[in-house]
Amino acid sequence: MPLEKGKKYKDIYHKDIYHKNIYHKDTYHKDTYHKDTYHKDTYHKDTYHRKNFKYIKKYDNGKHADFVLLLKHKDNGKLVIKKKYKKKHSEIYHNEIDILKKLKGCSFVPKILKDNPETLTFYMTYCGEPIPNLIDYKKTIEEYNKTLKDKFQIYHNDIKPGNVCKFGKRIYFIDFGWASDRKLKAGYGKGKAGYGKSELNNKIFESKEDDKTFEEDKEKETIEN
Ligand SMILES: Nc1ncnc2c1ncn2[C@@H]1O[C@H](COP(=O)(O)OP(=O)(O)OP(=O)(O)O)[C@@H](O)[C@H]1O
Ligand SMILES: [Mg+2]
Repeated sequence: MPLEKGKKYKDIYHKDIYHKNIYHKDTYHKDTYHKDTYHKDTYHKDTYHRKNFKYIKKYDNGKHADFVLLLKHKDNGKLVIKKKYKKKHSEIYHNEIDILKKLKGCSFVPKILKDNPETLTFYMTYCGEPIPNLIDYKKTIEEYNKTLKDKFQIYHNDIKPGNVCKFGKRIYFIDFGWASDRKLKAGYGKGKAGYGKSELNNKIFESKEDDKTFEEDKEKETIEN
């Protein structure tokens, strides 16, 4: 919280119950302020964020993203998503950026508004909220997969709940970290699906523990492209 003009830190610290409660009791704030790069990067370093956007909410994210935020543009009121990757998943960050840039002309994917490879952060258009039941939109999903393949030579490779959104009446694919020019079975382990030795694949499957959880997730949730 920026210090108001004319106020001393003492005033805030000792008299303001808001601050006392927030700072000492609220673990969300403590975690956010001290441990989470969300606060540090967003609040202190990212002037683009501070200048242009209001914070709306933080999404639950998977293990590759550091955080995913919903923001609102201060001038035009448009909703924007800010996604930051963890350092160890920089390769997936670069893959998602490359793929979304290749998909610039595609109407059902997020558009990149700004990307910063140094902080592994990017801003993109908001595509609504995830649809709970993919089966209800099976036809659209199949049609989108076909368009990605035929028009852009891209496979999403990670179609599951959480990665298909609805905004108004329109359906969108999001989360292109696993997308590729080849059909992969994300999470099925190196070599298992016989899809070669790209650096991306090797990195993704570095941790055995990660593989297991992810593999289980996929077996439950993945819809074949
Ligand atoms: N462009 C977007 N529009 C609307 N919601 C989004 C958008 N991008 C992300 N989200 C929201 O944030 C959630 C998490 O984002 P995303 O799926 O990209 O990351 P993730 O699941 O953490 O990815 P990873 O598999 O790399 O861990 C999504 O399920 C969705 O609710
Ligand atoms: Mg996801």
